[in-house]
Amino acid sequence: MDSFTIKGGSKIQGEVRVSGSKNSSLPVLFSTVLTSEKCVIKNVPDLMDIKSTFDMLSYAGKNCFFGFNLFSAGEGKKLKTEAPYELVRKMRASVLIAGPLLARFHHVKFALPGGCAIGVRPIDIHLEGFKKMGAKISYEEGNVILKADRLKGARIKLAFPSVGATENLMMAAALIDDLTEIRNAAREPEISDLAGALRKMGAEIEGDGTPVLKVRGKTRLRGFEHSVIPDRIEAGTFLILCAALGGSLKVTEIVPEHLKVLIKKLKESGAQLYVGRDYVEIKAPARIKSVNISTGPYPAFPTDLQAQWMAYMTLASGTSRIQENIFENRFMHAAELMRMGADIKIKRNCAFIKGVKGLSGATVMASDLRAGAALLLAGAAASGKTRIRRVYHIDRGYDRIEEKMRCAGVKMERAKE
Ligand code: UD1
Repeated sequence: MDSFTIKGGSKIQGEVRVSGSKNSSLPVLFSTVLTSEKCVIKNVPDLMDIKSTFDMLSYAGKNCFFGFNLFSAGEGKKLKTEAPYELVRKMRASVLIAGPLLARFHHVKFALPGGCAIGVRPIDIHLEGFKKMGAKISYEEGNVILKADRLKGARIKLAFPSVGATENLMMAAALIDDLTEIRNAAREPEISDLAGALRKMGAEIEGDGTPVLKVRGKTRLRGFEHSVIPDRIEAGTFLILCAALGGSLKVTEIVPEHLKVLIKKLKESGAQLYVGRDYVEIKAPARIKSVNISTGPYPAFPTDLQAQWMAYMTLASGTSRIQENIFENRFMHAAELMRMGADIKIKRNCAFIKGVKGLSGATVMASDLRAGAALLLAGAAASGKTRIRRVYHIDRGYDRIEEKMRCAGVKMERAKE
């Protein structure tokens, strides 16, 4: 397991080019199962989660290629309609193979993804939707089996605007020659990106980006070429990094519209931001003001930037409050930040952060992807050296992170263990 050693205290300066979105790439890659024709996807980040998706698609029988941020998939033989536990356990988003396999072959058997560090994360909303489309659900030795003689269009109201469930159901609906309406759908930009790819395949989709999504599918879908949107969470991580460390940074090749709430919150904390067409320039505040946040489904503050915001607020003047409304156990990073000198109290789904004069370097452990990002940020802001263990969590979601951090002025090294 690799670790990072960061020498804290540098000021930020320079420019960082953001990679393609991990959370967009995953469903778009899985949507290639909907057709036997060739699909080409560009701007795909080079990450562990992409490798896991590649492995799952290859196991199913797709002919995959990935290199230089380009992914392609074709098909030479009949696909297997299975996703075994050894592959599924590596990534929760593996469940996104279910919708495409079910829609195309009317059968899928996949291992239940199980829990993870940030909570139980069930898939009941996905399954409820498939049931409405006519699938029969059964369970066998830790696997879920979905079967349908014929899938039909349906009116589905999600119990919560789950990103994964919206994507899974949209992909299945794209291959049903009927109208499916998904109410209380997720509105994240990644949903619209997937809708864009499915349209290129031939599906008719309306309402992406709103709570009511209408999909009129086709009996056959075409191959497609698509370039995924920039990663708004990576962009946000770098903007917060600069605000916390001081200095200025230009974050490029992004869609600033996707970062509206973060930009507003950063301005409230005293940072100056200039928003360009596809970039944002930030100048860090001389004194960080404490700012409360409350996470929620898009367009609210993203839960995937909550940990990084907490690391930032440890350095603010006064006390701030963070309310986490998406995952029940997403404050694991608080304990590690406290080992670096932060003053944080947790009460149910709220964290109260009393700003301190400075953090000091320590050996800490990344418990999940975004918790890892928060520790990177804290380590770069702290005095002395910080060693972050279990960086494989960070590698799941950040493409060439040490190269980009160095570009921004942070001194860090990776040690292979
Ligand atoms: C996606 C993102 C993840 C982000 C999250 C919330 C990907 C690959 N991952 O995850 O980075 O943090 O959205 O923005 O895009 N839930 C249920 N039943 C379900 C499905 C979800 O109870 O069937 C709950 C979850 O446990 C969680 C909440 O709904 O508490 C949100 O989950 P969801 O939006 O589905 O997140 P993911 O798609 O897993």
